[in-house]
Amino acid sequence: MTKKEEKSTQNEETEEFPFIRGSRIDLCPRNSKYANLYVKWKNHPKVRKYARNIIPRTIDEQKKRSESRSEEFSDFVLLDVWHKEDKKPIGQIGLNHIDWINGWANAFLQIGEPNYWNKDIGTEATELLMEYAFNELKLNKIHGGVAVDNIGSWSVAGKIGFVLDGIRKHEMYVDGKYVDAKVFRLSKEDWIKSRELKED
Ligand SMILES: CC(C)(COP(=O)(O)OP(=O)(O)OC[C@H]1O[C@@H](n2cnc3c(N)ncnc32)[C@H](O)[C@@H]1OP(=O)(O)O)[C@@H](O)C(=O)NCCC(=O)NCCS
Repeated sequence: MTKKEEKSTQNEETEEFPFIRGSRIDLCPRNSKYANLYVKWKNHPKVRKYARNIIPRTIDEQKKRSESRSEEFSDFVLLDVWHKEDKKPIGQIGLNHIDWINGWANAFLQIGEPNYWNKDIGTEATELLMEYAFNELKLNKIHGGVAVDNIGSWSVAGKIGFVLDGIRKHEMYVDGKYVDAKVFRLSKEDWIKSRELKED
């Protein structure tokens, strides 16, 4: 391989197609060339613990799922969290169960590389997703549910302005015991107010 070809391959490997631009991260469409990373995150014991991925995942299954998902925009949006400085995807974020009539959806987030946890990246990704949900998809309310002992996850929700809707008792089976889940909601109205407060 010539130097020029090598450089072009490297560029291709780190090429991103930003869909939503952020400051330290962008949100990009999924790319099958990162299937191995997606599978790594799904199988990682620490990452999958609260995401409830209880079945081992293979690259072949991942590829099939990606292909079948591509036609299903109607109730599902999935984006890579792309680290701009390190030039690689480090997690995924999205909306599922989108109800277009009533204007709500469920949000989910996974930073698949634990060495990027607690660096405010999940919060930035969620802020970008909320902007997209309210200002582009025209949704009116986003909700999410997290295990009570998944502190990182409900801290992100709190920082964005989600409010507690309630506790679902014995909702998840984690590490041999039933744990309660916190259910959160963020209305467009509350999101606008919380942004105004941050700007003051
Ligand atoms: C949950 C998750 C998305 C959070 O992403 P993140 O990038 O680490 O989030 P942020 O850094 O923006 O915010 C996390 C907050 O939780 C706090 N936190 C995390 N663990 C904590 C703990 N044990 N005690 C106290 N605070 C804790 C952090 O200090 C930070 O708050 P701060 O900014 O006020 O200091 C990420 O840890 C993750 O993907 N985990 C695995 C998958 C998962 O559990 N997904 C959600 C359920 S499906």
